[in-house]
Amino acid sequence: MTQSFQSNFKSKLPNSTVSIFSKMSLLAQQHQAINLSQGFPDFDIDPKLTALVTKYMQQGFNQYAPMPGTIELRKAISEKYKHYYKIAVDPSEEITITAGGTEGLYSVIGTLIHPGDEVITFEPAYDSYSPSIQSFGGKVVPIELCAPNFAIDWNDVKAKITERTKLIIINNPNNPTGRILSQDDIKALENIIEGTGVYILSDEVYEHLVFDGKQHISVLQSDILRQRAFVVASFGKVLHATGWKMGYVITNPLLTSEFRKIHQFNVFSVNTPIQYAVAEYLDDPLYYSTLAPLFEQKRDFVIEELKATPFKVLPCEGTYFLLVDYSAITQEQELNFAEKLTIENKVATIPVSAFYTNSLNQNLLRICFAKKEGTLKLALQNLRNI
Ligand SMILES: Cc1ncc(COP(=O)(O)O)c(C=O)c1O
Repeated sequence: MTQSFQSNFKSKLPNSTVSIFSKMSLLAQQHQAINLSQGFPDFDIDPKLTALVTKYMQQGFNQYAPMPGTIELRKAISEKYKHYYKIAVDPSEEITITAGGTEGLYSVIGTLIHPGDEVITFEPAYDSYSPSIQSFGGKVVPIELCAPNFAIDWNDVKAKITERTKLIIINNPNNPTGRILSQDDIKALENIIEGTGVYILSDEVYEHLVFDGKQHISVLQSDILRQRAFVVASFGKVLHATGWKMGYVITNPLLTSEFRKIHQFNVFSVNTPIQYAVAEYLDDPLYYSTLAPLFEQKRDFVIEELKATPFKVLPCEGTYFLLVDYSAITQEQELNFAEKLTIENKVATIPVSAFYTNSLNQNLLRICFAKKEGTLKLALQNLRNI
């Protein structure tokens, strides 16, 4: 009886399994390896922030927050955009607080995608894009970008646009490549969507982690893109608190009202005391400018230490990820080598092939350097022994 009932079950995501991040983190745990795989900091959040969350919990801010988020937090975000990007973002009608970047991405995709719609993604791609598109009946049209530069050929993008194309997803700065989009890329994107009905989803969760004096360009800075763009951001990356799952989505008032219809029946609203605490903590928008120097110093430390190993480092302009090429060591498949490195050398990384639909193998591993100096030192000692 039970068996025949289950045999009728039709999976919406037949090809999805446990994510590579969970898989490598578990392997790291089982083999007591240093975990440079999943993207989370191993250092504490600012105690001031913990105190603020405690304060708001003790003051009784423990019931449902307003569906779009507290106005205090939305105003703090709006101030940030004024300060960093010199643009006005209306806290009431253009910002919605989400349960992390992931819920933001999922709800944007849910807002736009009807069965049969096509979505252009760039691979290597963050792992939630494809399953989110598929769960709303959309078709993923991946464009493969290759090492070492992962540059986008915009003519190729133009050629992939059909009358079914609803959305293009970009991720800038990019996880896992660590590359950023230039003003020329933004111009090219403006040109190819002109005269089409294509929307843009810009995943900017690493917007404040851009190095070497370079500047992040938000799609909101482009008048052309802003009319049809959704920006997704995450406080997990900004406050070193990935476990809080707190983020936001910005889009114009019309699209915001459609977005909120999906968001409200997805999570309704998100964690109240944390919203109040973050709003107070981010009262000074200068806070954001402390992030790039912190992670740039960690990146430089890892690059310097890797010089004593056979790993070749690829350019990293942003995020807290670094790609390394291990061709000088072996030609093994990335997943095999990453597993071996975890078990034998006690350092867990992520095979970059996991970010491609067809598991493209380029002898690359992704290292997360959002770790304490002690953790990075130990990991690099192990890598030197290869
Ligand atoms: C590119 C990218 N987008 C979105 C997210 C999700 O952010 P959150 O943890 O806030 O859900 C991540 C998290 O690692 C990410 O790397």
